[in-house]
Amino acid sequence: MDIVVSGIRSTGNLHLGNYYGAMKNFLRMQDENRCFFFIADYHALTTHPKPMDLAGNIRQVLAEYLASGIDPEKATIFIQSDVPEVSELYLLLNMNAYVGELERTASFKEKIRKHPDNINAGLLTYPVLMAADIIIHKAKYVPVGKDQEQHLEMTRRFARRFNMMYEVDYFPEPSAYNFGQQLVKIPGLDGSGKMGKSEGNGIFLFDTPEEIRKKVMKAVTDAGPRSLNEEPSEPIKNLFTIMEVVSDPSTLQYFKEKHATCEIRYGDLKKQLAEDIIKVTSPIRERIVEILADKPYMAKVVKSGAERARESASRTVREVREIIGYRPF
Ligand code: TYM
Repeated sequence: MDIVVSGIRSTGNLHLGNYYGAMKNFLRMQDENRCFFFIADYHALTTHPKPMDLAGNIRQVLAEYLASGIDPEKATIFIQSDVPEVSELYLLLNMNAYVGELERTASFKEKIRKHPDNINAGLLTYPVLMAADIIIHKAKYVPVGKDQEQHLEMTRRFARRFNMMYEVDYFPEPSAYNFGQQLVKIPGLDGSGKMGKSEGNGIFLFDTPEEIRKKVMKAVTDAGPRSLNEEPSEPIKNLFTIMEVVSDPSTLQYFKEKHATCEIRYGDLKKQLAEDIIKVTSPIRERIVEILADKPYMAKVVKSGAERARESASRTVREVREIIGYRPF
């Protein structure tokens, strides 16, 4: 039985990228592994949410986790800030994380570019906290999307550095995981780049069918193929990529053939895509509403999750303190 850890920031509703990049993998892993899934609400502080928004987002993401099929009987679901041990490990790991390597992280550089007015130290050390989240449970696998690949590489480096520094074989080196396949990147509807929470290019699990139809019908396309067997342009490839995860393979095949023969009508493609997305998200949306209404159930899930996660985390922190040299007199 392997240990699996993954998390999602509580900065907004879950979108198709989160679902197909990370969540679906969790679901396939929870039966046979010791899984920890958490809501990264410390990480969420880098964008300075108002207290009411932070609290509301945590609740919403928890309901969306559960509605997507994560089973608290099988997996440990918890809120990051309910396990303060992680902040101690984060502090300890920070001593061996170098500013140069943190500044070179792609996600940090992107944040600087997008939000030059808020380059806080929490953003710089984001990968260290993420490493702490993972190695505090000694995870082997971390189901995540492609955008987290570099963070996992850094996690391995911090784990290895700790082992070398203290001449121990203590932390395993975890890997990003997607069932032996490539990590997934779900594109947005705006023609380029990945689907994101704040890019305005996403479809959320909580969107109504009307919202989904509207968003998909507005998705960026091109002027249509001009010659037989032409390579689809990036916006069209992106729609095919989304179709690949939500639709029947024969549907995708049909539209690819229509593209190759220049007979494709993008309106038809979009209509079909919207309906296939709705088929996936509608039952999840209904469960989200039900779970949000059941506050005692949500409270019970996070209480028992926190207990189990703290048990595992406090053992690691105790042992790490001992290794580092904090010993009783
Ligand atoms: P976050 O909240 O940005 O995204 C959560 C998960 O969704 C995946 N994802 C995608 N996958 C495919 N295509 C997309 N367009 C797409 N957008 C998002 C992400 O890869 C991720 O798996 N740093 C993490 C949260 C975190 C974490 C951890 C994850 C904190 N500590 C420890 C794993 C283990 C993040 O910002 O995810």
